[in-house]
Amino acid sequence: MRTEQPKMIYLKDYQAPDYLIDETHLTFELFEDHSLVHAQLVMRRNPERGTGLPPLVLDGQQLELLSVTLADQELTAADYQLTDSHLTLQPPSETFTLDTTVKIHPETNTALEGLYKSSGMFCTQCEAEGFRKITYYLDRPDVMSVFTTTVIAEQHSYPVLLSNGNPIASGPGEDGRHWATWEDPFKKPAYLFALVAGDLWCVEDSFTTMTNREVALRIYVEPENIDKCQHAMTSLKKSMRWDEETYGREYDLDIFMIVAVNDFNMGAMENKGLNIFNSSAVLARAETATDAAHQRVEAIVAHEYFHNWSGNRVTCRDWFQLSLKEGFTVFRDSGFSADMNSATVKRIQDVAYLRTHQFAEDAGPMAHAVRPDSFIEISNFYTLTVYEKGSEVVGMIHTLLGAEGFRKGSDLYFERHDGQAVTCDDFIKAMEDANGADLSQFKRWYSQAGTPRLAVSEAYDAAAKTYSLTFRQSCPPTPDKVEKLPFVIPVELGLLDGQGAGIALRLAGEATAGDTSRVISVTEAEQTFTFVDIAEKPLPSLLRGFSAPVKLSFPYSRDQLMFLMQHDSDGFNRWDAGQQLAVQVLQELIGQHQAGQPLKLDQRLIDALRTVLSDESLDQAMVAEMLSLPSEAYLTEISEVADVDAIHAAREFARKQLADNLFEGLWLRYQANRELSKQTPYVAEAEHFARRALQNIALSYLMLSGKPEVLAATLDQFDTSDNMTERLTALAVLVNSPFEAEKAQALAVFAENFKDNPLVMDQWFSVQAGSTLPGGLARVKALMQHPAFTIKNPNKVRALVGAFAGQNLINFHAADGSGYRFLADLVIQLNTLNPQIASRQLAPLTRWRKYDSARQALMKAELERILGAGELSSDVFEVVSKSLA
Ligand code: TRP
Ligand code: ZN
Repeated sequence: MRTEQPKMIYLKDYQAPDYLIDETHLTFELFEDHSLVHAQLVMRRNPERGTGLPPLVLDGQQLELLSVTLADQELTAADYQLTDSHLTLQPPSETFTLDTTVKIHPETNTALEGLYKSSGMFCTQCEAEGFRKITYYLDRPDVMSVFTTTVIAEQHSYPVLLSNGNPIASGPGEDGRHWATWEDPFKKPAYLFALVAGDLWCVEDSFTTMTNREVALRIYVEPENIDKCQHAMTSLKKSMRWDEETYGREYDLDIFMIVAVNDFNMGAMENKGLNIFNSSAVLARAETATDAAHQRVEAIVAHEYFHNWSGNRVTCRDWFQLSLKEGFTVFRDSGFSADMNSATVKRIQDVAYLRTHQFAEDAGPMAHAVRPDSFIEISNFYTLTVYEKGSEVVGMIHTLLGAEGFRKGSDLYFERHDGQAVTCDDFIKAMEDANGADLSQFKRWYSQAGTPRLAVSEAYDAAAKTYSLTFRQSCPPTPDKVEKLPFVIPVELGLLDGQGAGIALRLAGEATAGDTSRVISVTEAEQTFTFVDIAEKPLPSLLRGFSAPVKLSFPYSRDQLMFLMQHDSDGFNRWDAGQQLAVQVLQELIGQHQAGQPLKLDQRLIDALRTVLSDESLDQAMVAEMLSLPSEAYLTEISEVADVDAIHAAREFARKQLADNLFEGLWLRYQANRELSKQTPYVAEAEHFARRALQNIALSYLMLSGKPEVLAATLDQFDTSDNMTERLTALAVLVNSPFEAEKAQALAVFAENFKDNPLVMDQWFSVQAGSTLPGGLARVKALMQHPAFTIKNPNKVRALVGAFAGQNLINFHAADGSGYRFLADLVIQLNTLNPQIASRQLAPLTRWRKYDSARQALMKAELERILGAGELSSDVFEVVSKSLA
């Protein structure tokens, strides 16, 4: 907890460090009731910072200082200043060695930052500023050092002792203890430090790099999970090969390790040579993990592995540059996932997520630029904006420069900055220099927050055979009050003729026509593009592949959207046309509900989805995506004022109508795919994911019919399937159904079967927390008393509370404010236990401006109550105070 008022930190105040650390030698003595950390730092004055010897100010929090020796002189308390966040001393000369010993308490560390214990093992999480909870240090990413680490612990309980780099020595110690020393030859900032000590087993494999070096690969887990590592190992090898082939990036150390831990604040962490993962991001096998979980493991393994270059070899100068590594690495892992699975489906899922959640963040009180210019607590800036919008920004550079130009730019970036801590500007500069391009206006994407609007209008001149598109861009104001200048918006587009064929595109002034799809750059507030030789009025297909993270509007009729759904050559836009059609139809239903009229579903949506459903030539995963109506969260995001009840009623009504009208087609597709699932053993591959995705969305519609044959099929799928994808869908379908006896029975059987598997129990919690049937809060409160629940485990909190507040909107936003009160109580409790998780769980309350005045008042009252709840962590303080500002 803070003792002073948290203060804002500004990018404009950045200064290079006064001192550098060339070598870091650490020795950890791990015990059950405390641990000792001895640090020897070989330091020198930073030549870039002029002459003289200013005081050395080291970061350190929650450390008990036992001794300090500076240049071989043991210091006394009179020789230094100590506060609860810093140790200040006077260096004797330009180069010197500093030795400290501190005592820390990993065994009581519930914040899961620094050194902590999880399921009996010691592990670390240092990003962003956790290393200062381990020892006194210059805990900033532009201070890079080589490390040697010795870990000493009791042999029986902690047979495995790991740290970054290569193992160089180990041996027995006294009193049943043993030790191991690791050496990491690559200079790194402290946030990439890692240590693990525990009773772990490992799965081993190896990878031969492009230059024929042999790399040992190891995944360490608790013994009972040794059978759930194969998918992660396969994903790792695919990632290593892909990064060589796509970016020319080779792995550098002789060993690469992943450790799975149960208590972890995020998905995973890219510590050099020793990635530490949330067990949910490693463990996967058919019987216990869904297809979505398998794909998530593959993506996160890739993401962390890719950080070895985009993050570790080339790191961030300061935390304002976080998207330098995160946006780029998300872009890299998306490309990998697209290549491993269906590229169009991957794009659809990424865009749906971005438009629902990142757009909401960008329109809320915590809105910030991809490169923020101030923060109170950096942990609050590991956001959708930095990650997903950051990835979109890199993706736009890829679109503007083309694949080859982009690769030249990334090659130059890695070569020029290897071993350095750099900025987003350095990244852009490499892209410019390698291509002779000017990205100066483009850089506004890094400094201007908010989602740009792009309104498009058309004009056709039949006599002149010209077709003009006029683009008007604007960007709503954000809390930072930064003035919004026009963005560079790459718009990929095509024009369809009356038969749905693409027209070869030629802009006025061009000599010849080119392809039927091209990218134009909108750079002005208002700009018109005129196409020539257009024999008939075309239908535009705009923002293909979602070529820019903007809210595009064009006045499509429903018939035009149906036409695009069938004919657009761009798969992403076919899906998006369907979504736009569904949005129009759902908004009409919302209006009817609000006016107290009977609801009536536009027949065209039924017809359009019937066509999709019967199209056997379409990728089944595409069919599944196209059958999915826009989520309540997305409908909320695009509403001026979200009417929670009307949105829920409209969407449920549409689902039921679709289920009734498309029953035959859904039932055929369900049965065909279910048969295949019965006959084929589980395989974690795209084609199989696709088949099960369609099977499962079909089942969720079919169950709305309440027909006995569907109930029987669901129970059969629940009882007899060999994989968690089918079983969990059957459970979810039952949980949301009115069949109380079958529901209770299935929940009990599932819990009994999987009570010893915490990750499966997370699914069990989530499915129930997400049930939109009345009484949601009471169910969640009861589940918090279940023996498998603990508030100390972030996965449990996310599975139950996160799923309730984030996905079960109708229950969370209950008009009496009970959902808000519940969440605020939880945040207050988590504030002391785990500030990072507390602050993340708060997000739904920060969106209060979206709701009616009664709900606004209730939500604000809960935010005020949190603010008045005493000692707030900087994490919670920043989010609450900005939300109320
Ligand atoms: N760098 C991690 C990633 O790959 C993010 C991360 C993991 C993190 N653990 C964290 C960030 C704890 C803040 C706090 O995305
Ligand atoms: Zn990352």
